[in-house]
Amino acid sequence: MSEITLSVIKADVGGFVGHTDVHPALRDCCDEQLAQAKKDGLIVDYARGEVGDDISLIMTHHKGVENEDIHKFAWNTFTAMTEVAKKYGQYGAGQDLLVDAFSGNLKGMGPGFAEMTFEQRVSEPIVIFLADKTEPGAWNFPIYKMFADPFNTIGLVIDPSMHDGFRFEVQDLIGEREIIFNLPEEMYDLLVFIGSPSRYVIKHIYRKSSDEPVAVTSTQRLFLMAGRYIGKDDPVMVVRCQSGLPAVGEVLEPFSFPHAVAGWMRGSHHGPLMPVGFEDDTPSRFDGPPRVVALGFQLTDEGHLVGPRDMFGDKSFDNARQLALDAADYFRRHGPFEPHRLPLGEMEYTTMPQVSKKLKSRFKKAD
Ligand code: 13P
Ligand code: 13P
Ligand code: MG
Ligand code: MG
Repeated sequence: MSEITLSVIKADVGGFVGHTDVHPALRDCCDEQLAQAKKDGLIVDYARGEVGDDISLIMTHHKGVENEDIHKFAWNTFTAMTEVAKKYGQYGAGQDLLVDAFSGNLKGMGPGFAEMTFEQRVSEPIVIFLADKTEPGAWNFPIYKMFADPFNTIGLVIDPSMHDGFRFEVQDLIGEREIIFNLPEEMYDLLVFIGSPSRYVIKHIYRKSSDEPVAVTSTQRLFLMAGRYIGKDDPVMVVRCQSGLPAVGEVLEPFSFPHAVAGWMRGSHHGPLMPVGFEDDTPSRFDGPPRVVALGFQLTDEGHLVGPRDMFGDKSFDNARQLALDAADYFRRHGPFEPHRLPLGEMEYTTMPQVSKKLKSRFKKAD
């Protein structure tokens, strides 16, 4: 068995129409670039992923994580797609490309990425989740359930190779620090942090017996990086499955509950995260509700991607979708009120400073 790196790199480089979908011309441009990279030997294999107005480059290669060549290729691809987006007048063309030129790797430059290098197993089932109108912390709830909740993942109870639990790496997006928790022993400590998904985000899951990652998320928060609202941080997540890891069905199961996430409409509202098939990945109502697609792959032993299968296309997620639609109605009826609207500190843009300034002289000291 040889080591392989799986990189999922995503960006919104223009929406069709508004923030709802991607124009076919952008897809064509993306496919051309990916095919060329494979021909040039830069990558072993690829697939294109999509949710809402976000496109993901899914690539296998032998260059490791945060590799300059791979990140530069992704940057150049998104730049080429931006030119196409401009030609077709796409909304927010180049939205996620925050800097003028590439330097070194994509950290802080706008595109989101989740990558891991691992020893490929004879059969390597992988699920790649892509979400739109939300933030990286949206994965905290489902990934916790996959790797720590026995009511979700019975393998934690009855599979001897999972019974010891997993290690969770959590990043503090504001404090710019990270910590590793051992589960199940430190479950309550972990939950204190990851219950605040706008700040604490699960970045990696590791087996307890090795440093090999078994799951990874993208943790970029564009508004923190840019210091102002430019684009949101619609996240991706990669999860390896089976043989000592959660089964594919255990990895999908958390999404049977469309939990509330931040990021709907103008990046400033909570709403349910609705699992959808590829056909339904176009957030329209109030630019949402937020949604997630799941791409299933089997990797062959040379790093070739067999797939994707549309994992949420299955009717067993219909009830989750119905619940999400009902929850969307419930949230929407709050209009501009919290908890539909995010708290002041978390909104991606707000008129509060201007309105406060205008009314400053009219505020009197309260008794
Ligand atoms: P593995 O331990 O081979 O992954 O089998 C678990 C399983 O798929 C049961 O549903
Ligand atoms: P995107 O982050 O998907 O571009 O959505 C922006 C937005 O605010 C939609 O209401
Ligand atoms: Mg957009
Ligand atoms: Mg988006």
